[in-house]
Amino acid sequence: MNKNDLHQQPDALPVPEETERERSARLASSIAAKIAVAGGWISFDHYMQEALYSPGMGYYSADGHVFGAGGDFVTAPELGSLFARTLALQCASVLNRLGGGDILEFGGGSGALMAELMLELDRLGKLPERYRIIELSASMRARQRTMLLERAPHCAERVEWLDSWPSSPWHGVALANEVLDAMPVRCFSLHEGEVFERGVSYRENAFVWSERPADPDFSAAVLAALPEPPDRYPDGYQSELNPSLAAWIAGLSENFAAGAALLIDYGDLCAGRYHPARAQGTLRAYYRHRTLNTPFWYPGLCDLTADVDFSGLSNAAVSAGFEIAALDTQANMLLAAGLEEVFAQSWEGAKDTQQQLRLAQEAKQLTLPGEMGERFRAILLSRKMDL
Ligand SMILES: C[S@@+](CC[C@H](N)C(=O)[O-])C[C@H]1O[C@@H](n2cnc3c(N)ncnc32)[C@H](O)[C@@H]1O
Repeated sequence: MNKNDLHQQPDALPVPEETERERSARLASSIAAKIAVAGGWISFDHYMQEALYSPGMGYYSADGHVFGAGGDFVTAPELGSLFARTLALQCASVLNRLGGGDILEFGGGSGALMAELMLELDRLGKLPERYRIIELSASMRARQRTMLLERAPHCAERVEWLDSWPSSPWHGVALANEVLDAMPVRCFSLHEGEVFERGVSYRENAFVWSERPADPDFSAAVLAALPEPPDRYPDGYQSELNPSLAAWIAGLSENFAAGAALLIDYGDLCAGRYHPARAQGTLRAYYRHRTLNTPFWYPGLCDLTADVDFSGLSNAAVSAGFEIAALDTQANMLLAAGLEEVFAQSWEGAKDTQQQLRLAQEAKQLTLPGEMGERFRAILLSRKMDL
């Protein structure tokens, strides 16, 4: 058991503002009450769900900064327009071959991807019939609407928000960037070849990790995900499993008549994702561009994330009836989709050397192995079309 004081300050972290601390305290009490009702222990996905998405209090549901230089992390669409413009080429090609269709974005964040993508598709004369966004957080939806009206107001009538997967058949392109890593995960450890579940208890005003033997279903799911037999792992090995991935892919598949789905995220194939040497797992918390080693520091003020298992994702996609058209690093995916062409055009159109420098910096961040280039992977799924 590993105790993490709720407000113990990891090295040199800025102290959150008072209103933020108050919001976190309300959320912490609410989670603590849920733990008490559950008999003193909840699984980590339950905690993560509350910490990220509890209405009005969770990280993505409140009005905190989240993205960009003043927030906690930067995603590829936030760096500039190269990422969205490159994806636009791929969307245009699919929509062209389908003779039209929709774009469905899952988890739209600030709305930067949607706005830039629509502007570029408009320039290419390939706007989708509808741009639909499935977004869990009401606060994020409001930000997306504001971004749309500021950057691409003439495209606004094509954009709509859905509460769940489309209820009737559709065709086109589905996109999800850095969403699967924000889904709640269950945590486990291995002791002498046995699977234990790492959950959360609340003691002496602090959330603490607390382990118990895993139930048979969770144990079987963990053993099926690991590329090595459990006794090949060091004692105390810790990692995570996303229990919702298969249901998520099945939801995406349900009314998806034809087209492509591009899913991009932090992660690796299972051999790397669950390598015995990664004994501390991949669960991370972010606060103001710093990585924390505890998910319990000021609940609701930090982003929580865990790498995606792209082998599990591929298997789930095939089971749901998709074909895997490509599975590669983000760098290779962007280069194959036309990043060099987009970069050259942007460079030509830059108004001064400062803008050119920013473009060069952006291209490096998107493609260099130590940046997003290889830490992110992309999977391209197809349905009833060759890509
Ligand atoms: C890390 S952000 C990424 C945002 C954006 N795609 C980008 O690349 O900047 C995750 C986004 O997914 C949303 N999200 C997470 N889980 C979701 C779910 N189950 N349904 C809909 N949206 C979800 C969050 O509210 C947030 O907007």
